Amino acid sequence: MIWCGLDIATEFSEALSSRFDTISDTKIASKPDVFFLCSQSTHSLCLSFIDDCVGGIPESHILTIPNGDEAKNLSVCETIFNWLRDNNAQRSSLLINIGGGALCDVGGFCASTYLRGIEFWNIPTTLLAMVDASVGGKTGINLGHYKNYIGTFSTATHIFITPHWLKTLPQNEVLSGWAEVIKHGILLGGKAWTQVQQPIPNTNDHQTWLSILEWNIKIKSRIVNADFEEKGERKLLNLGHTIGHALESLCLDQEKPIPHGFAIAWGLVMESALAIQLSTQREATEALHQQLKTIVEGLYTSIHFGENHIPKLMSYIRADKKNDHDKLLFSMAFAPGECDFNIAISPEAVIQVLNQYVGQTN
Ligand SMILES: NC(=O)c1ccc[n+]([C@@H]2O[C@H](COP(=O)([O-])OP(=O)(O)OC[C@H]3O[C@@H](n4cnc5c(N)ncnc54)[C@H](O)[C@@H]3O)[C@@H](O)[C@H]2O)c1
Repeated sequence: MIWCGLDIATEFSEALSSRFDTISDTKIASKPDVFFLCSQSTHSLCLSFIDDCVGGIPESHILTIPNGDEAKNLSVCETIFNWLRDNNAQRSSLLINIGGGALCDVGGFCASTYLRGIEFWNIPTTLLAMVDASVGGKTGINLGHYKNYIGTFSTATHIFITPHWLKTLPQNEVLSGWAEVIKHGILLGGKAWTQVQQPIPNTNDHQTWLSILEWNIKIKSRIVNADFEEKGERKLLNLGHTIGHALESLCLDQEKPIPHGFAIAWGLVMESALAIQLSTQREATEALHQQLKTIVEGLYTSIHFGENHIPKLMSYIRADKKNDHDKLLFSMAFAPGECDFNIAISPEAVIQVLNQYVGQTN
């Protein structure tokens, strides 16, 4: 169940009560089977609100893990598994993930593998997690600098989405999530594409955000429901991600990590340049590329890479999960609302586009 609205306190408390309707006491302390996972930021910014909703969470049932991708590794998973084990979490237990995409990814992964799988809920607190990471049932951790290389397809049974959390989100993180909103705008075309070309709304403007969140959740859910395990159509959601993930991994290599969405924003621009070469509607694809360039140059700081980094970028692109053996397969947008997947591209064409961005990205 995906809920999107403003009164999360009521919705969350009711969902929790109905899961435990055999227990008369409404206080969480009497529900030893609920575990709360937070990041350092969400522990200080969001947990007290949830704590009030449920009438007090026992300390031992809260685990705080590092912020962001620093938590997406096997060693943090081991900490989570041990915490669950030490507190007698059983198959019937519930893990509630409160945080951004990284927290939802690692929490979902641990829930889906601990005792071969326990139930988990997501309370996404970043824009990116609300419109993308918390929805769709992909969980995962990184393997070194290879992003999301270990994971499961496993869906949160409840997802509570509210723009309420956006007010404490640093501008960089709003921008990071906005890249996925832009991607969804390209996939949908029409009004959604028009909206993503407008300025990003103020985080206090809850009504506008609610409507943006709703169409984003709708397009993501529609695609995921049609192809849960990404055998076909779901690959469309990887628009911008082949080059985007390579840029993100390169920045990690250089120990200069960048927000996920910044890499995706530039990935969308570069992949739209690739699409021009293959398009049967060249004018429309060129127009899309120019519009995307205008949006991304206006909002996102550049990503630095030189000609000497292209072999490393290509090795990340070759390792992309969408590829079929040696064949590079991309998802591509040819015009807003007109996208396709499993498009074979030659390495030479990719190198040519990467070369166009060398030097422009300082
Ligand atoms: N599973 C999927 O389908 C999917 C899809 C897209 C991205 N992802 C993954 O999501 C991750 C990126 O997610 P993200 O952009 O949410 O970043 P993030 O999870 O790294 O969070 C960014 C930072 O914001 C902090 N934060 C969270 N909520 C906050 C709030 N309300 N106010 C202030 N600070 C807050 C976090 O603690 C962290 O420091 C990447 O690991 C990416 O691979 C997964």
